[in-house]
Amino acid sequence: AKVGVLISGRGSNMAALLYAAKAPDCPYEIVLVAANDPQAPGLTLAAAEGIPTFGQSHKGLKRAEFDQIIDAQLRAAGVHYVALAGYMRLLSPAFVAGWDNRMLNIHPSLLPKYKGLDTHRRAIDAGDSHAGCSVHIVTAELDDGPVLGQTPVAILPGDTQDSLAARILIAEHQLYSRTLADFVTRERQPDWLLGKVREAAL
Ligand code: GRF
Repeated sequence: AKVGVLISGRGSNMAALLYAAKAPDCPYEIVLVAANDPQAPGLTLAAAEGIPTFGQSHKGLKRAEFDQIIDAQLRAAGVHYVALAGYMRLLSPAFVAGWDNRMLNIHPSLLPKYKGLDTHRRAIDAGDSHAGCSVHIVTAELDDGPVLGQTPVAILPGDTQDSLAARILIAEHQLYSRTLADFVTRERQPDWLLGKVREAAL
């Protein structure tokens, strides 16, 4: 399965997806990495790994217009699935509809807790025993949609936002590639996938 990854910055999750794809039995390949910032460090990394990249600033364009440019790049690259990896833009409804059930996101919380930004601080402030990360199917609502996989990460005494985020990031990198691989494989078995998606939504 051909995957396009959308990033906005560092791109460490994108890198994790890309390196996992080098395993001979990985069921997906990364065919495009696109960013809404031409200076995104992740683009340099992807290009050095021989992956086609596209970087354009969204500034000065309407959301739907910009999304259409990204959409055209994904389609031209023959992408089957889109993986959002630290993509810090809300997506237009038309874009989301065009990738219905074909777009995943990774979020650094145990969804449905802490949608949006500042997740690590919110988990620490709430006194939670665990934070974590989730991979979910992207729907029109931010950080919503059926959860396909989660990894809980214990919050340690003395954890700061940064120390917790760094530990969760390790879990993110493992969770995302595994969940994406499972997802593209399940898609070939629609009944099984639909059952799973329904379970995850409950
Ligand atoms: C990750 O923590 C991801 O879950 C969140 O933004 C961060 C992106 O990091 N949405 P990276 O660009 O993948 O390194």
